[in-house]
Amino acid sequence: MLSWEEFDKPEDAVAANKPATAEESPAMSLEKLDSVGDAAAHEARAVDANDSAAVARAKAALNDLDIQEGLDDLEGASARVRVDEKRMINARADLNQLVPFKYDWAWQKYLDGCANHWMPQEVNMNADIALWKSQDGLSEDERRIVKRNLGFFSTADSLVANNLVLATYRLITNPECRQYILRQAFEEAIHTHAYQYCIESLGMDEGEIFNMYHEIPSVAKKASWGLKYTRSISDPTFNTGTVETDKQFLKNLIAYYCVLEGIFFYCGFTQILSMGRRNKMTGTAEQFQYILRDESMHLNFGIDMINQIKIENPHLWDADMKDEATQMILQGTQLEIEYARDTMPRGVLGMNAAMMEDYLKFIANRRLTQIGLKEEYPGTTNPFPWMSEIMDLKKEKNFFETRVIEYQTGGALSWD
Ligand SMILES: [Fe+2]
Ligand SMILES: [Fe+2]
Repeated sequence: MLSWEEFDKPEDAVAANKPATAEESPAMSLEKLDSVGDAAAHEARAVDANDSAAVARAKAALNDLDIQEGLDDLEGASARVRVDEKRMINARADLNQLVPFKYDWAWQKYLDGCANHWMPQEVNMNADIALWKSQDGLSEDERRIVKRNLGFFSTADSLVANNLVLATYRLITNPECRQYILRQAFEEAIHTHAYQYCIESLGMDEGEIFNMYHEIPSVAKKASWGLKYTRSISDPTFNTGTVETDKQFLKNLIAYYCVLEGIFFYCGFTQILSMGRRNKMTGTAEQFQYILRDESMHLNFGIDMINQIKIENPHLWDADMKDEATQMILQGTQLEIEYARDTMPRGVLGMNAAMMEDYLKFIANRRLTQIGLKEEYPGTTNPFPWMSEIMDLKKEKNFFETRVIEYQTGGALSWD
């Protein structure tokens, strides 16, 4: 058991070692900081007889450290951050200082994401295993839906995570947004884990499922459409700062947040959740339900980022960019309609490809208007209103047999 008493030191001893007070620090030059801390550092750094050659070398290396040069490498200025200096892209403010906050929506989503923490192993998969292994538990069409969706999602979340970490994170120059992106990246890892957990629990052929994004055209087309947008900006020499590159980055955000997470996930989510509502594959459906909840937050965060970039850089949102953004959403919708047809050659689970097409057009209208574009499928209505109900819920309802009662951090999950 840790006791804080062990760490207690007399106040005076602490003060004697303190190089500067908080009030002094903003105006204090590096030279002064150096001279205050120098005597203590020299004493601590003196090589004594007990030091091994490696320790002595480490101490000597620090004597050569140029503090100013080290700080010059920091992203952004090293002065105290002012809120009005903060920007979504191309900011000059120090990226290592989280506060003062400018974008409260980003910080709030970080807090909400942490409060919604869950892990795949907390979901009971027993009923799914029995149903999947029984000869007459599921129809061929239902089995196709489970396999295709695990095939698509098991790699899609890795595409999203890689895009976030290798491309988006570096180019978003705001610490509170980066804080959420780090949370989102971990959630994407949990999602990939959840799909792997389902695939393993059901005893599926892992090679077949994880390779669908190479081998099944309706899955491969979606993956390849997304990857095109990662490729352009994941080059380490790519930087924003010109109209052209800023637009390129904005297109990446639209591709991933509005299309991949905002459209490409929706046919599969609807199919699997519809299964759960019919008391089939309830464990898998429950995993998808938590993932959908996370994803709707990712989507909303992305929409907020895109709209904030537009506000701060109105010159980027010209007629060309609006047309390209519209085209991207329409292409994504078309690919998802094709995926719906491939996964549902016949009516199944009370739905069919034509109903899904209506739903996807309804979703596309939402994505378009969320980033300030006009609807392209006027008059479309939502054939699956229960989907919005699931997404909008703050607490669980009785959709499935097992459910989270209080949606809080992992250790606090409780089940019926
Ligand atoms: Fe995800
Ligand atoms: Fe996501």
